[in-house]
Amino acid sequence: MSITYKDADGIQGMRTACRLAADVLDYLTPHIKPGVTTREIDRLAAECMKQQGTTSATLGYQPAGYPAYPASLCTSVNHVVCHGIPNDKPLKKGDVVNVDVTVIKDGWFGDTSRMYLVGEVSIAAKRLCALTFEAMWHGIVRVKPGVRLGDIGYAIQKFAESNGFSVVREFCGHGIGRNFHEEPQVLHYGKPGTLEEIRPGMTFTIEPMINAGRRDVKEFGSDGWTIVTKDHSLSAQWEHTVLVTESGYEVLTLSPGAPPPPPFVNA
Ligand code: MF3
Ligand code: CO
Ligand code: CO
Repeated sequence: MSITYKDADGIQGMRTACRLAADVLDYLTPHIKPGVTTREIDRLAAECMKQQGTTSATLGYQPAGYPAYPASLCTSVNHVVCHGIPNDKPLKKGDVVNVDVTVIKDGWFGDTSRMYLVGEVSIAAKRLCALTFEAMWHGIVRVKPGVRLGDIGYAIQKFAESNGFSVVREFCGHGIGRNFHEEPQVLHYGKPGTLEEIRPGMTFTIEPMINAGRRDVKEFGSDGWTIVTKDHSLSAQWEHTVLVTESGYEVLTLSPGAPPPPPFVNA
């Protein structure tokens, strides 16, 4: 799947889909608390999407070599890195959970995820979630025509590692548009001045997965999806979909409930 450049209509389509994906997270926020199951969060999301007139991009999603994904979103708790499948285990105080929502509206895909703290959580967990959010934004603020994907990856990796964390290598951000996963791959590590030059009209996600311990991951069990840290350390992830504009970037997955950008972001 090659890189696609969105024209004015495409940009409008992406703005709408992305805002709706963020709206689903806003809708879920008050429900994510001790005692709720991730299956219930999934049910609420499906209900919200129905109201919106969107469909879930993850339900039934089946890339080559994978079983069909069985839920309307992903819920990745504590040492689950990504692609956690909702289940009947209640969330408990101290958990951190990533909720990742991708919706389709009029053929356009919007993809975003946030971390949620379940009740009071440890200082270490709070710090990992906060710094992973900042790591994502360190990547976002680099986005501008002429910049290379390696510059973005480098900014994220440098920030994460300078804080003592590690960057997951096996999963990356991605182009997105009329398809869920398009080129380019957006690595969250890398070297300045390397890889593809970014250009206006590109839309892609930045979605770093950052571990408190080692970067290594493994498949969990045999559901074909769930990825966990090998050392069982905590993992966090945030995701926005961004548009490359003539002068920089536009974050498409903002909504009233999205946390505001960190102070170092001015644009
Ligand atoms: N939303 C994820 C991403 O950011 C992909 C989830 S695929 C699924 O790319 F099948 F696990 F849902
Ligand atoms: Co994504
Ligand atoms: Co996602």
